[in-house]
Amino acid sequence: MAKLAVVYLSTQGNTKTMAESIANGAKSRHVDVDVSSFYDTTVDEVAAADAIAIGSSTFYYGMLAPIEKFVDELVQKDVDGKIGAAFGSYGWSGEAPHMIADKMRKAGMNVVDPVLRIQHIPNDKDISECERLGKDLAENIKKR
Ligand SMILES: Cc1cc2nc3c(=O)[nH]c(=O)nc-3n(C[C@H](O)[C@H](O)[C@H](O)COP(=O)(O)O)c2cc1C
Repeated sequence: MAKLAVVYLSTQGNTKTMAESIANGAKSRHVDVDVSSFYDTTVDEVAAADAIAIGSSTFYYGMLAPIEKFVDELVQKDVDGKIGAAFGSYGWSGEAPHMIADKMRKAGMNVVDPVLRIQHIPNDKDISECERLGKDLAENIKKR
């Protein structure tokens, strides 16, 4: 089965909620999904997926160093032409998801819209948007 890897950094659970909702959306379209904190997976495992969604909340107008290192290592792998998505919760500026999307695009990945940013705790409407992104990712995977 086609596989989507959803990986995230989340300090208080907000981006984690987004990741799980994206995964649920994709699963509802019968795509095999692995969702995990980046601490619990490896760059090689994620790089092997057909589509890769990466989420990070924003800290100090960017990404925290450990997730940035993970993304930088991932885009060195054979990800050219793969489907990508970027997302994250934020407080007031929300740079991290755009930074992830830029790195993916520079590596030749096809980043699906939208780069999904949600302020603070996702509400019901936000969760629906995350599920929508997961469904869109699933449809993109199936088209390949
Ligand atoms: C020390 C600290 C620095 C932060 N810096 C930013 C920032 O520069 N820009 C921003 O949009 N949000 C910033 N935030 C807010 C977080 O991104 C926000 O609380 C987010 O919902 C956390 O999501 P998470 O639970 O997935 O980690 C900061 C929060 C903390 C605690």
